[in-house]
Amino acid sequence: MHIKNFWPLLAGIGLVATSLAVVGDDDRRSGPDVAPVSLPLYQQECGSCHFAYQPGLLPARSWAQVMAGLSDHFGDNAELAQADHQAIQDYLLYNAADRVRDRRAVKIARSLQAEAAPLRITEVPYVVHKHREIPASLIKDNAKVGSLSNCTACHTRADSGSFSEREINIPGHGQWDD
Ligand code: HEC
Ligand code: HEC
Repeated sequence: MHIKNFWPLLAGIGLVATSLAVVGDDDRRSGPDVAPVSLPLYQQECGSCHFAYQPGLLPARSWAQVMAGLSDHFGDNAELAQADHQAIQDYLLYNAADRVRDRRAVKIARSLQAEAAPLRITEVPYVVHKHREIPASLIKDNAKVGSLSNCTACHTRADSGSFSEREINIPGHGQWDD
């Protein structure tokens, strides 16, 4: 390449990169709150007893602890074959809240102290804060919900990684207006 053509070319690459970055930003705003589950093995193994919580709902250090304690997982044995364990752990850690840029994942990660590694999404400060106004009569004392861990009972599009307030339907109560 002739040297006098070099700088305009670089500037051109810069422009393309900038416009791509802008498109990416828009995508994040209109896209899901967290990326939907993309590993069928995870869906199958970690979605059999409860909703397959997306990796973006907890930081990597939390997922590492969850995976380290599967033999006594909230009172259940959720142990996996070694190869499956490794694949799921890699998937969770790689896509964890503190490793991705999806808007809700970023907020979850930011709400936690640097060392905090809650085992529960429902103990993450951001998640606690978001649900603070919902009375127990609609969660714990609601037979169709049972606990805040049961995301899909109220968030109709949780499976696709969307937790928008417009897509909430609390059993026996309906939409949430605040
Ligand atoms: C044998 C059933 C079972 C399997 C399989 C299972 N879990 Fe769980 N999990 C539970 C139970 C029970 C709870 C506690 C639920 C509650 O308190 O309402 C739980 C809770 C959780 C929570 C906390 C939810 C909250 O309250 O915020 C996470 C995170 C979680 N599981 C991740 C996983 C992962 C990752 C896997 C796959 C490696 C997995 N689970 C597989 C039974 C299971
Ligand atoms: C009892 C029904 C119910 C359950 C169960 C529930 N949520 Fe929610 N969630 C709500 C309501 C209602 C709001 C809106 C609260 C408000 O704005 O005052 C909300 C808000 C949110 C928001 C913020 C959305 C926004 O637009 O600001 C997120 C993220 C979220 N929930 C995630 C979860 C996750 C993850 C779980 C499961 C671990 C869960 N929720 C379980 C009812 C529920």
